[in-house]
Amino acid sequence: MTNRSPIMIPGAYAKAGPIVFWSLVAGALVAVIAVGANEFLKAGAARRSDPSDATLVERGRTVYDRHCAACHGAQLEGQANWQSRLPNGRMPAPPHDASGHTWHHPDEVLFGIVKEGLRPGKYAPPGYKSDMPAFGGTLADDETAAVIAYIMSRWPREIQLRQAEIDRNARTRR
Ligand code: HEC
Repeated sequence: MTNRSPIMIPGAYAKAGPIVFWSLVAGALVAVIAVGANEFLKAGAARRSDPSDATLVERGRTVYDRHCAACHGAQLEGQANWQSRLPNGRMPAPPHDASGHTWHHPDEVLFGIVKEGLRPGKYAPPGYKSDMPAFGGTLADDETAAVIAYIMSRWPREIQLRQAEIDRNARTRR
C-alpha cells in the first residue's frame, strides 16, 4: 500500500533534497548575478558620455542651455576674467570649450563635479567655497552624462583625444 499521508512528505523531500536544494541555490545565484550585472550595466550606461552619440549630445544640449549656460556661457565661453577671483573671493564660471580646464579631467571626475559640485575634500581642497551648484537633486544621472557628452562634442578632435587619454590613464590607475 502506498502511503501518501503528509507524514511521508518529509521523507520524499529528503530523497529529492540535494537536487532540489542545489537547484534552488543555483537559481538564486543566477538571479543575483543577473540583477547585479544589470545594475552594473545601468550605472555604466548612465555615466557613459559619448560625444559621437548624436541623440545623447542633443539631449545634453537641452540640459546645458537650461541649467549651465547662464554661468558657463551659451557658447561654453565662461565668464569674463574667469581666472581672477570675484570680490567675494570665489572663482567665476570657467569656459567648457578648449580654452578652459574642463577637458583636463577624466569622465568620472566631470560626472562627480556636476553631480556633487566642487565638494571640498573630494573635488576641491577642504573648506573650499564655490559657486558651482551640485546638480544631483536636479538632474538624473543620464542627464548629467548627456550634458558632459554635449560639452565633449564641442571640443576639437585633438582635445577630445587628449581628454580620452586622460580618462584612460585614470581608469588604469584605479
Ligand atoms: C550658478 C553658476 C553655475 C551654474 C548654473 C553651473 N556652474 Fe559649473 N561652475 C561654476 C563655477 C563658478 C565654477 C568654478 C568653481 C570654482 O573653481 O570654484 C564651475 C565649475 C564647473 C566645472 C569644473 C571645471 C574645471 O575646470 O574644473 C564643471 C565640470 C562644471 N562647472 C560643469 C557645469 C555643468 C555641466 C553645469 C550645468 C549642468 C554647470 N556647471 C552649471 C558655476 C556654475
